[in-house]
Amino acid sequence: MENFTFHNPTKLVFGRGQLENLPNLIPDGVKRVLIVYGGGSIKRNGIFANVDKKLKDNDYEVFEFGGVEPNPRLSTVNKGADFCKENNIDFLLAVGGGSVIDATKTIASAAKYDGDAWDLVTKKVTPQDALPLGTVLTLAATGSEMNAGAVITNWETSEKYGWGSPFSYPKFSILDPVHTYSVPKDQTIYGIVDMMSHIFEQYFYRSTNAPVQDRMCEGVLKSVIETAPKLINNLDSYEYRETIMYAGTVALNGMLQMGTRGDWASHNIEHAVSAVYDIPHAGGLAIIFPNWMRHNVDVDPSRFKQLAVRVFGVDPSGKSDKQVALEGIDRLSEFWTALGAPSRLADYDIDESKIDTMVDRAMKNGPFGNFNNLHHDDVKQILTMSL
Ligand code: NZQ
Ligand code: ZN
Repeated sequence: MENFTFHNPTKLVFGRGQLENLPNLIPDGVKRVLIVYGGGSIKRNGIFANVDKKLKDNDYEVFEFGGVEPNPRLSTVNKGADFCKENNIDFLLAVGGGSVIDATKTIASAAKYDGDAWDLVTKKVTPQDALPLGTVLTLAATGSEMNAGAVITNWETSEKYGWGSPFSYPKFSILDPVHTYSVPKDQTIYGIVDMMSHIFEQYFYRSTNAPVQDRMCEGVLKSVIETAPKLINNLDSYEYRETIMYAGTVALNGMLQMGTRGDWASHNIEHAVSAVYDIPHAGGLAIIFPNWMRHNVDVDPSRFKQLAVRVFGVDPSGKSDKQVALEGIDRLSEFWTALGAPSRLADYDIDESKIDTMVDRAMKNGPFGNFNNLHHDDVKQILTMSL
């Protein structure tokens, strides 16, 4: 293992009816709360009304900032930061999925910075202060509810980058599986693909002696694989929504990557694709990740074999490591396809015409990927395999 220090300050408040605790979770002294949300799903499913009432019943002055897009945009973040400055907001409450939470994290720091939020996202400037924030999660996918990461798109330059700071951790996150009942089938599938991808990113590391981490990753993956098809056929099941919601948080709250350094190249490539084509993040991952695996299988076939045998139940007898590894990757593709995820960029009408632009975006900060460092030609090959 590599040396590590683990500290995750987000208070996780999980389960049915936990919104009741909202007033007790907001820090003392807060008076003016801004509810940040997306395209309006929370107005249709009643979550906004419940949150608003809870706050007003407890004498908070409530403001609202809606319209955060999936793949949240820099222009919206800057507007949100201006709103906070103009209205002396002192607490942000993100009510939504990863996009709303990421936008809120960035608004929180931008509200205390006199300049363009892009300076924070591109890490030109390190935030010195931020507004505190909390979240009410409505979609199980990104893990943003319990990490410091945020991913923002600059639509003018077709760039999408992740950033984070210690200020970006939510003070608390309320996770009620009931809040995810209204997530449609396609978004539920994307969420499942995203959380599985987060585990794969962390499973493909270059550290040594991390058997506990391996088994933890495999355990969460197996639970998701067992539960996902049942949930897709029964979107109103509390039990299945609960398992998937918890898995999404554990998959990216730092628990699985203590002592190891994950790969993260597939995410980098996907962010380049969705910066150019604005497709759903996990739709892109479902296409790219299996091809990243095929491209890298020779780097360490035994690692892919372990995944194939332990998670996908491939029988290794009489086969080479590489054969087992490739069989496991095929099973992953089949699993995602059977759930209903896309498998080719053509599913989003993406052809080869902008491959070079996507490669350039992905390569912006030089070669990347910890399991295997990818260069220009590798990225081009993976994208070409994905067409
Ligand atoms: O906009 P609203 O009305 O909220 O509707 C959303 C949106 O249309 C809808 N939705 C959310 N909760 C719902 C619901 N619809 C009905 N009922 C509900 N309860 O679902 C759609 C997608 O929402 P979004 O927030 O975009 O999805 P997700 O949570 O998958 O977030 C994706 C974003 O997170 C970034 C991605 O790049 C992408 O921009 N990521 C953030 C990460 C992080 N901060 O740690 C890590 C991830 O790898 C990822 O990159
Ligand atoms: Zn992701």
